[in-house]
Amino acid sequence: MTPHADGMVARAPGKLYIAGEYAVVEPGHRAVLVAVNRFITVRITPCSPAGGYAGTIRSQLYDTGSRPWRHRPQDGLAEAVGGDDDYVISAIRVVEALVAEGGGRLGSFNLGISSELDEADGRKLGLGSSAAVTVATVRAVAGFYGLSLDDSRVYKLAMLASDAVQPIGSGGDIAASAVTGWVDYASPDRVWLRRARQRAQARGGTGDLLESDWPGLCLRRLPVPSVRLQVGWTGTPASTPALVAGVQAGSRGADDVYSSFLRASQDTLASLTTAIEDDDAGQVMSAITRNRVLLVQLGRISGRVIETPELTRLVEIARDHGAAAKSSGAGGGDCGIALCPPDKDIAAMSSAWRAASIQPLDLAIYTHDSPVPPMEVTS
Ligand code: PMV
Ligand code: MG
Repeated sequence: MTPHADGMVARAPGKLYIAGEYAVVEPGHRAVLVAVNRFITVRITPCSPAGGYAGTIRSQLYDTGSRPWRHRPQDGLAEAVGGDDDYVISAIRVVEALVAEGGGRLGSFNLGISSELDEADGRKLGLGSSAAVTVATVRAVAGFYGLSLDDSRVYKLAMLASDAVQPIGSGGDIAASAVTGWVDYASPDRVWLRRARQRAQARGGTGDLLESDWPGLCLRRLPVPSVRLQVGWTGTPASTPALVAGVQAGSRGADDVYSSFLRASQDTLASLTTAIEDDDAGQVMSAITRNRVLLVQLGRISGRVIETPELTRLVEIARDHGAAAKSSGAGGGDCGIALCPPDKDIAAMSSAWRAASIQPLDLAIYTHDSPVPPMEVTS
């Protein structure tokens, strides 16, 4: 394994939740997500180390526009210079740990990040930029070192990188961005994962962790059903970690209600995945409607607003047009999704959304052939 002299470009798509939100945070609980055709692109160009730095990371996501990084003297692992490690640094470190375990030589490089996930005017759409940047960085750095990884290994490395930075959340966004298309996902046991990650870090066992089964984890591409997806953005994005923490805290003390939510969500997701596999549009839509009701109830028992009045409008308009709809992701604003029978007039629903100040987003589902080879930089 030698670093790639020409550099490397890789990209990873954004995601949307179709169903299973909140339940999927609990180990072994399922969600269905899709990847969408907006991307984060990561470009690596080799450079010579200078001033103790291994290179610079450039991103519009940073306030300052760029950050230097280095290989820390004690163990040669990547770290940010000044400030905390973020998803990018963490992803570099995890992939380089794997390279170093295999006896590879670590190199110096600059890394540039560009994002299409938010609107041109800076509005955030909630398409999962942290997950996509982590997945794209894993792919680019792996490509730079000549590692060829399948989607599940990309997912696992991105998950290890992300767990070190932000240890809450299900990782569904990472799964969708790594696997693409329609994805059936159940989250791994995060307590197990944290311990395993720390052990792997201490003993150089990242490679073993990649090859082992992760308790709870299910990661599977579903066939593409003929129902059509429409996405509406209702504004006022909510903070997902704050909502997840609030819903979990709010449901405490209502343990039996929360467990029945988890059971009902799991049942609904089982019907949804079967309906997708059978390409049964009617059953897909009824599973979506059932999941919507469960999420509205979860909001009620936890005292948090998951489906805002704007999202309720989106759902009602979709229903008037023969579609099934719900909030997507943590809710509290952001996007709602509608699934429409293949023969329905989507344009009429979109204009009714627009009239209600809901912005239809021009998104399509993105599926890559697996595994996607990283592209080499040609310029
Ligand atoms: O708001 P989003 O799109 O990041 O989705 C959050 C989904 C939750 O299930 C509520 C949390 C999670 O990490 O899965
Ligand atoms: Mg969100």
